[in-house]
Amino acid sequence: MNTYAQHLTLLQTQAESALARSGFDALLIASGIEKFAFLGDRPYLFAPNPHFKHWLPLSNHPHSWIVVRPGHKPRVVYFQPDDYWHVPPSQPTGEWVELVELIVIGRAEDAAAHLKLTGRLAIVGEADAALDGVVPNNPPDLLNLLHYQRARKSGYELAQMRAASGRAAIAHLAARDAFMAGASEAEIHRAYLVASGHTDRDLPYGNIVALNEHCAVLHYQYQDVQRPPESRSFLIDAGAQVNGYASDITRTWSSQGRDADFDALLAAMEKAQLALVDEVRDGVDYRDIHLSTHRRIAAILQSQGIVKMSVEAMLEQRVTSIFMPHGIGHLLGLQVHDVGGFMEDEHGAVAPKPEGHPYLRLTRKLQAGMVVTIEPGLYFIPTLLRQLRAGPASAAVNWPLVEHLSRFGGIRIEDDVVCRAEGGPENLTRDAFAALV
Ligand code: GLY
Ligand code: MN
Ligand code: MN
Repeated sequence: MNTYAQHLTLLQTQAESALARSGFDALLIASGIEKFAFLGDRPYLFAPNPHFKHWLPLSNHPHSWIVVRPGHKPRVVYFQPDDYWHVPPSQPTGEWVELVELIVIGRAEDAAAHLKLTGRLAIVGEADAALDGVVPNNPPDLLNLLHYQRARKSGYELAQMRAASGRAAIAHLAARDAFMAGASEAEIHRAYLVASGHTDRDLPYGNIVALNEHCAVLHYQYQDVQRPPESRSFLIDAGAQVNGYASDITRTWSSQGRDADFDALLAAMEKAQLALVDEVRDGVDYRDIHLSTHRRIAAILQSQGIVKMSVEAMLEQRVTSIFMPHGIGHLLGLQVHDVGGFMEDEHGAVAPKPEGHPYLRLTRKLQAGMVVTIEPGLYFIPTLLRQLRAGPASAAVNWPLVEHLSRFGGIRIEDDVVCRAEGGPENLTRDAFAALV
């Protein structure tokens, strides 16, 4: 059996068990619908139901459905309209076709006849996907079981994610080269797209392409079309997709050799990031990796002469949260921020965030097969620095150095990492870059 067939068999087994445990006879999954701007006929970018993409490598297929019943092949109701305004979905092709019962429909409402089964139906999808007599009920007990399991990837899924990392890595190098040549943010973004083979529509999230002070904006959402007079630093957070699976990679570059302080900080962050990646082990509580990050950031602030306080005092007074105000990472897969990050168990109990760390997105104990990001950052964010200046730790801060480093905005380094049963983690990102040299 190939890895996709194995993946499908695993999903069938998990779904049958989840149906039995939650008291349902069949699972219906809606791919989702296209949505339009208010008072307009311009569609938003289609965002498929991740449950649908879990079963099938189809990301641009609104109005399609999957039916899962114990003891049957999955039924795929495949929407393929006769539409001369747009390119309709192609003839169904790929290894999945042989493994399902395929029904092709030309009108969205025709799906209902293939979905109205007897028995108790769990219908997973957005409310807008409802058809006559087929209304999503999204049973929480069933969803909890599925979401908890989804964090651990199958061999097929890991292969897609390796490919997604490879696709992004080559584009990251093209972006770096554009930065080194003095390109604008918009030009760098275009270089990334060309090298990745993606258009903006295909990206798993909007690229963050930031020069100089913009590197301090965590989710910087613009791309300046003007070339800056001086390109000091460059932060790019950009991924790629393969069969619906994402990569999520950040790199920070400096104009090499131009500033000793920033380059030393960058080198220290690189070292800390690699050490944090190595903490991804079966059984480790991910919250501990987040707290370890803060200790490492404190040590860097101290060793680089930015804050003259002990590590303990910095943690006590939450000084590190000024410089790293986000979480160390999250689950990754069908969604960039994959569901299930806060699940203590498969019944939906919540694993709380550590006190004082409201932006951490993953609080679970790591298990083999999980894919997480490790993305420490250290930024000079004006609004947070104003808080620091107004507080008791201000006297310990080397403000002239902070002012100097603020011209570089900040640093984030983000890898996608697989937790393994034994030994160290698999670093999808570093492996992808290494394969390019
Ligand atoms: N690209 C969003 C994130 O790193 O979480
Ligand atoms: Mn990212
Ligand atoms: Mn991320």
